[in-house]
Amino acid sequence: MSGAKMKAAITTAYGLSDVLNIEEVAIPTIASDEILVEVKAASINPLDWKIRSGELKMMTGKIAPKILGSDYSGIVSKIGTDINNVKIGNQVFGMVNGMKVKEGSHAEFIRVKENDIWLKPENIEFEEAAAIPLVALTAHKALIEIAQLSKGSYVLINGCTGGVGSVAVQIAKSLGSEVSGICSTNNLEFAKNLGADHVIDYKTENVLEKPISYDVILDTVGNLKYSQSKKILKPAGLYVTTAATIPAMLFGPLLNVFRQKKAKLVMNSPNSKTLSEIKSMVENNQIRGHVSKVFKLEDVREAHDLSERGGFTGKLVLKM
Ligand SMILES: NC(=O)c1ccc[n+]([C@@H]2O[C@H](COP(=O)([O-])OP(=O)(O)OC[C@H]3O[C@@H](n4cnc5c(N)ncnc54)[C@H](OP(=O)(O)O)[C@@H]3O)[C@@H](O)[C@H]2O)c1
Repeated sequence: MSGAKMKAAITTAYGLSDVLNIEEVAIPTIASDEILVEVKAASINPLDWKIRSGELKMMTGKIAPKILGSDYSGIVSKIGTDINNVKIGNQVFGMVNGMKVKEGSHAEFIRVKENDIWLKPENIEFEEAAAIPLVALTAHKALIEIAQLSKGSYVLINGCTGGVGSVAVQIAKSLGSEVSGICSTNNLEFAKNLGADHVIDYKTENVLEKPISYDVILDTVGNLKYSQSKKILKPAGLYVTTAATIPAMLFGPLLNVFRQKKAKLVMNSPNSKTLSEIKSMVENNQIRGHVSKVFKLEDVREAHDLSERGGFTGKLVLKM
């Protein structure tokens, strides 16, 4: 395949979505510990437009040229000599670390490592499969690994109809928790259909004024700060956030030593072991990916703009 070309959404500068261009570039060559996947679908995550806009410049450094995109689904096209867990032709899904890799998933092919890939659940199509890995790995890490949620726990999920939130509601319900979700008026019905037991409309209600306390609060939005929300946490409650602020990263672990109600940051990363658990949860219908809109790769600018603007439920997906 050397010399062969693929279409990819390339960014060569930080800026608005018009810095994204569809270009013909070389299909990545693989090393002995790598796998080449023909991408069938890839999802859009806020991380994509945060990198593109320069919001994460301190971590991403010089951008040019980069293919954005973390999660993907597709068909194994080529494997390195050291690869054992997948075969050519397997239908797969997974995620790469979109912050670190130069060649992400918004392209016709992606090169991945064994930790970044697992067999696609058999009961779903490529579009839905591409909508799952990053958000499900994040929700799984937050609720199962960090919070160790159990049957009967009271959980509050802020942003419960977004990518992370919609999977978090389903995981929490599958564990037997009592789930409250916060979302906007238009999405109340969607939140109930996901399985939320109680829904709070952030446009008309303030959760901090409710006479209820939670074992776990998962903030996927970043606007429900620990300092405010500890008043609605039970005495040994846990606050988990996806918002990676510098103070939370630097001081959170130290402050937790002195406080009973802990605050933790979830940072997802590719993980094939957890992906295999997520595959089983999908096949057992405990979680599903919710695709709000599918775009052609050529319409990647429009997909970034909608993701940044919000006002949809679940995930946006690019179809190759
Ligand atoms: N640390 C990590 O490893 C990690 C991993 C994944 C994601 N993240 C971050 O987590 C955040 C969420 O990611 P995502 O993929 O779930 O994004 P998303 O799909 O865009 O969802 C965000 C949700 O926030 C809701 N929202 C907006 N304003 C709100 C408000 N004032 N109160 C309550 N909810 C509000 C929106 O719901 P409405 O439409 O109803 O307003 C939307 O559903 C992003 O900032 C992302 O970068 C971090």
